[in-house]
Amino acid sequence: MGDVAAPTVVILAAGQGTRMRSATPKVLHGICGRPMVLWPVRAALDAGAAKVVVVGGPDRALEGRLPAGVELAVQAEPRGTGDAVRAATAHLGDGPVIVLAGDVPLITADAISALAQAHEASGAAATMATMELADPTGYGRVVRGADGGVERVVETKTTGDASAEELAIREVNTGVFAFDGPRLTTALEQIEAANAQGEYYLPDVLPVLAADGGVAAHRVDDPDLMLGVNDRVDIARVQALAQRRIVQAHQRAGVTVVHPDSTLIDADVTIGEDAVIEPSSFLRGAAAVGPRAVIGPLTTLIDSSVGDGASVPHSYVVESEIGAGASVGPFAYLRPGTVVAAGAKIGTFVEIKNSNIGAGTKVPHLSYIGDADVGEGSNLGAGTITANYDGHTKHRTTIGKNVRGGVDTSLVAPVEVGDGAWTAAGSVITEDVPPGALGVARARQRNVEDYDERGPGEPGREEDG
Ligand code: UD1
Ligand code: MG
Repeated sequence: MGDVAAPTVVILAAGQGTRMRSATPKVLHGICGRPMVLWPVRAALDAGAAKVVVVGGPDRALEGRLPAGVELAVQAEPRGTGDAVRAATAHLGDGPVIVLAGDVPLITADAISALAQAHEASGAAATMATMELADPTGYGRVVRGADGGVERVVETKTTGDASAEELAIREVNTGVFAFDGPRLTTALEQIEAANAQGEYYLPDVLPVLAADGGVAAHRVDDPDLMLGVNDRVDIARVQALAQRRIVQAHQRAGVTVVHPDSTLIDADVTIGEDAVIEPSSFLRGAAAVGPRAVIGPLTTLIDSSVGDGASVPHSYVVESEIGAGASVGPFAYLRPGTVVAAGAKIGTFVEIKNSNIGAGTKVPHLSYIGDADVGEGSNLGAGTITANYDGHTKHRTTIGKNVRGGVDTSLVAPVEVGDGAWTAAGSVITEDVPPGALGVARARQRNVEDYDERGPGEPGREEDG
């Protein structure tokens, strides 16, 4: 915030947002994996706000979703932006107040600081952030007086709200303001309902404050910072900009993002230096990628971590941990609770769920490993399957270290294979295999001689199938 008094920041976030046509409140819709309202909350905290107050609805949908220390005020009914700020007045002190909109997510800490500075420099009772848009449709237009000063904002949502002349104005209200706190509180008591629905509009304090300290405008050069979200078309536009910002931040921090246009990286993802994100990869939620790891092409990581130097091509990974130097994929599916230790290899068409795979262990081909603990240095052959479910309960399979599993081994849980044990190809292991032993569990082969020479109906032919 520099040398400017740290403001209290009020973020308006009540109401459903009818144009979203959604059962979810507008400000809880995600932008790059983070609820919309948390974008301005984060910017306000980063800007060094003295206090952050979010105004939500009586359903308290925001409860428990705000960072520690952020206060929640409740607006009983969604009766307009002016009414929403009123709901927060008990939280305000004597210092400056900045009002942000929960549906203007791309605002940055720098933009908030710049407004606070402009406000202090102007000495006015209110400073409104405005921007000029090529297409101002849907926004309130800024009406300036003959002297160039801000007079009022005219809303444009209902036909007849604004004259043709007003509609032609391209300078709009961003929904972001700085105020002198006590004067704002007084002005909010004086405004009148703006429409038949009994809504109170925040910009209606401007004419009041023009006569009580003055109103200044702070023109924001980059309108991308102040785009409002009222429907899902707006979400897509804002998300594309947010995505570019996120990708560029990672690129500047030393991450190679090979093809940004086909890549999605959520806001809270972390990526180490010299990691490479190959095309068509999606890093969602709290994904964390270590330095030098290679993700993709065509990999999805959801709330999962990947260690230093690991590689994960063409795979789908959910709530799992992949250790340093491990290799997963192509075509692997790691489900929640999977921990792949350092240097392990999970290969092609392998599904793993709720299991621990030891360091250096290999599950290279065509396997399902569920609810298992596998020690280090083991090798499970192609087609290894854990039968973890008996129709009622899930059971665990325990496989020791340095185990050599034959191809097509089924492990009927609960069952344990000891350290250094082997299983024979095609075995259905229902009993524990002691350490160092070979478990063989399959019918012995028998050959029927001259079988091919027998005709249909001749003795021995029933051996068929
Ligand atoms: C508002 C402004 C408009 C401006 C635009 C910028 C008013 C009357 N209009 O219009 O001049 O150009 O933002 O994006 O202020 N909210 C509440 N309680 C309410 C109503 C709204 O908390 O009773 C919150 C909403 O959650 C939202 C924000 O205030 O985050 C703005 O409300 P919205 O209905 O989206 O206003 P706009 O029509 O976009
Ligand atoms: Mg809006």
